Order: sequence, then C-alpha cells, then structure tokens
Amino acid sequence: MDLMEKLVSLCKRRGYIFPSSEIYGGLNGCWDYGPLGVELKRNIKNAWWQDMISHHDETAAPGSAPGSFGMVGLDCSILMNPTVWQASGHVGGFNDPMVDCRETKSRYRADQLVVYRLLAADSVPATLADEELLYAAPGEVGKTAEADLIQPHRKHVESLRKKLGELRLEPVLDALSDASLRARVLAPGAKEPGSLTAPRAFNLMFKTNVGAMENNSSIAYLRPETAQGIFVNFKSVCDTTRVRVPFGIGQIGKAFRNEINPRNFTFRSREFEQMEIEFFCRPEEADDWYRYWRDRRFQWYIGLGLSTERLHLREHDRDELAHYASDCADVEYAFPFGLSELEGIANRTDFDLRQHMEASGKDLRYFDDQEPDADKRRYLPYVIEPSAGADRAALAFLCEAYCEDEIGGETRTVLKLHPRLAPIKVAVFPLVKKDGMPERALSLYRALRTQFNAFYDEKGAIGRRYRRQDEAGTPYCVTVDGQTADDGTVTLRERDSCEQQRLPIDAIAAFLAARMS
Ligand code: GAP
Repeated sequence: MDLMEKLVSLCKRRGYIFPSSEIYGGLNGCWDYGPLGVELKRNIKNAWWQDMISHHDETAAPGSAPGSFGMVGLDCSILMNPTVWQASGHVGGFNDPMVDCRETKSRYRADQLVVYRLLAADSVPATLADEELLYAAPGEVGKTAEADLIQPHRKHVESLRKKLGELRLEPVLDALSDASLRARVLAPGAKEPGSLTAPRAFNLMFKTNVGAMENNSSIAYLRPETAQGIFVNFKSVCDTTRVRVPFGIGQIGKAFRNEINPRNFTFRSREFEQMEIEFFCRPEEADDWYRYWRDRRFQWYIGLGLSTERLHLREHDRDELAHYASDCADVEYAFPFGLSELEGIANRTDFDLRQHMEASGKDLRYFDDQEPDADKRRYLPYVIEPSAGADRAALAFLCEAYCEDEIGGETRTVLKLHPRLAPIKVAVFPLVKKDGMPERALSLYRALRTQFNAFYDEKGAIGRRYRRQDEAGTPYCVTVDGQTADDGTVTLRERDSCEQQRLPIDAIAAFLAARMS
C-alpha cells in the first residue's frame, strides 16, 4: 500500500473521513468528516479564524507588516443574486476544458490529460510517423510511469522496441486541440486510437432554481468561491464598522464546483470549504501588502507543523496569471501524489470592486476623510486575496502527521498532529479497573473535559490503549495508577517520543494549556 492508500484507510478506520452517502454507493467528489475529522477540520478553521481575524495582532505576526491594520469577519449566504456571478466573470469564464472518451465513456479535464509519444532513447526516427501511436494519461508531465501507460499495449510497444531499442516518453503538447493528432491518440483504457473528443468549455458552477418556478429567471448558482460575498458587502462593512483602509475581511464557508475529475481523496472535491481573506489597501501599497500576505500565509502552515521541506512557494509566471490578477503565488505542499496547491495569494487589483460597481450602479469607492489631498480621498482600493482550502489543509496536515515507527520492536502507526489541531487533546486511563483507579481517572477526565477535548478509556491492556490514541493523533495520555492514591501523581505519556513523566494530578490542566497555544 502506498502512503495515500494507508492514509485513506486510517481515515476510514478511525472516523476521520468517510465517502459521502456511502451506504448508497457514495457520490463522487463528496466526503463526510467523521467524529475525529470534524474536530480536526474545526481546529484548523478555528486556528485560521483566531490567527487571522479574532486575535489579529499584526505586531505578533511573523515578518513586518507595512503598517497597522484591522481584520473583521463575514458569513455570507451561499445563494446570491445571479448578477453577482455575471459581474465577477464566473458565468462567462469559470470554465475547464473537457474531453470525453467515446469508447470508455470516461470524461477528463483536457489540461490534466498528458499526451505522450514513444521515442527511441537517442534518436527521433523520421520514418516512425505511420505506425506511431500517441498515448494519453491522466497526470502531469513526468509523473506517469512508462509501465502504467504502455502496459495495455505491450505488443505494439514491444514491436517498436525491437525496431528502435530503448524507448522514452515525450509529451506532445496541444495534441488534443489538433484534429489530426487527436486521431492518433490512444485514450486511457481504450483499445482504439481516436476516441477522444475535441476539448470544449465546461462551466464549473452548480445551477439551481430559487422559488417555485423553474425557468431562466429563477436560476441561481451555488457559490464557487466565498470571495464574491465579501466584495458585494464591502460597502456595508465600511458603512457599519470603524474599519479604515488598509483592512481585511475574512470568511470561512462552503464552496461548490462541478469538477470534471474529482480526485486524490479530498484534494479535489465538488463540495469543499474555503478560508478566504480579501484585504483592501491603497493601490500604491498593494505590492508591499501582497508580499506581506504571501509570506505570512506560508509561515502559518509551518507554525502548525508542515515541514519546510514539503512546503513550496511558487510565484506564477506573467502568462499564467488570471485576467484579474497582477501577481499570484501558490503555497504548494508535496502530497504523496505530487506537489499541489494548498492556497493561492493574489493581487486582484480593483477588478472585482470595479466590476460590481459597474454592474450594480452603486458607488463602491472608499472615502478616506483623513487624507489631506482632496484628489486622493475617494478611490477604489486594491485587493490582496489569500485564499485557502480547509479540506486541502486538513489533508496536508494528515499526510504530514502520518508516520509508522518502531517502538520496543513493534511497529506503530501514529498521527503526529500539532497539539492545537489534534481532535482529542488528552486521553485519561486507569491502569487497571480496581483499587479506586477508575474513580480517580474519571474525576480527572471530567475536570479536563471542561477545558479540552478529552477521552476516557478503561478497556484493554494499557499498551493497546496507547496505540489507539497514537492512531487517533492524541498528543497526551494520562494514566492513573497505584502510586496516584499515595502521592497524588499520575503518568503523562507524550505521543511522539513515547516518553513518560510523573506529574501531580493538579498540574495536568496547566501542562496541557501551555502546549495547546
Ligand atoms: N477566490 C479565489 C479562489 O477561489 P482558487 O485557487 O480557485 O481561488 C482557492 O481556490 C483554494 O480553494 C485553493 O487553493 C484550494 O485550497 C481550495 N479549492 C479550490 N478548488 C477546490 C476543490 N475542488 N476541492 C478542494 N479544495 C479546493
């Protein structure tokens, strides 16, 4: 089993993540968080909300902010007036290129299907054109094993090998847009080449109807991002709070995209949660704020346990930028399936506020009554947007935490989650079910439960109880034993090192509190 299979299996076994509506066969791209998963995801969202919004303190944040600023929150409705999505450009342009395989009836995102040709290792024979097949495979260039790709067509490949010796794969860019090349492409799992359709635009927004009538005028969309709710409330927030530019508005909430190919567990889902900030600033200061947020968001993941070796900050090339962005960087994580985006930080300029001002006819310019220069008082702020996915963050923290190590000659599976993110913070055990130990352990458990998510377990051998908590990611286990009655101390076991220490029973709550921050 590879790491991803092991993690998916652990998530199911321990109640982290289940396929949605599984008893009916599930629904592709949808996932349910079980009793431990819901705590993990809530802890991630709480950490984000506290660090970015409610406990916001720019002097405490790493790196120096270009100035002081405020942060407030919002919780907007998922359904909005459909004009929002026309103005934002989503109705016209939120598309992915889709191709269908007429033979296998599979559907792919054209940009995620790579077409390769087989070439002799050191020469490109001009005579090959007649017998040459092109092979399509899902995945990125370089990540597809040659064996996987050509396995079903071994005969053809072997005859090429005889003629050409060693073979290598080379990606053929744009093969799917070119009809003559497409005719030679063998789709994944297909027997005959030429079964793929030309790519066509597929809008990712889910449509629904609002009210009793199902007609064009009742169409609404499930929001594909939380960001637009913030833009359309910009004026209301300015008018009703004391915020002054520069300031940010944050929101956590569900977003929906009819992804053509949901995949890699929860990484690409059709229903997911975003944690987004729209940070409003003066246009001339936008570059500084962009760098500030890019670096601050990158550090946030490190502070919660992602290793710097697996995290990567990727600045977009100019030709990669969305039409509304003047700068963009992705925080990427080395998942077992490859380096992939966790969060994007973009300078969206004044694109969104301008679009909504034009479409709504409402003046969305900010008025700075303290600006001495009268010409500069009214303006459209620029927006820096750090946009993160709660599910992708949860998956990255789980991948990072998953570990198998040897303890006392035994292999154990352990989730080394940061104590702030761990679903259960402490488990309390009586060593044995006698001599007043369960009573003392229960009383400690009840006291701790008022402050922390705690768990009580008295069943089975103590070693097995520790192992169960290791798999659940519980950072501390406290055991009440024979000595507790004599001197009021308990054993505290640390998950990652398995080290044990004796502490007074009254010191446990303070010990845990110090480690949860
Ligand atoms: N408002 C900007 C925006 O939505 P995005 O790059 O499309 O930008 C931001 O999405 C983040 O939302 C991504 O970095 C990712 O963490 C998360 N996300 C996007 N699509 C997702 C999907 N299908 N499944 C899970 N998370 C997704």
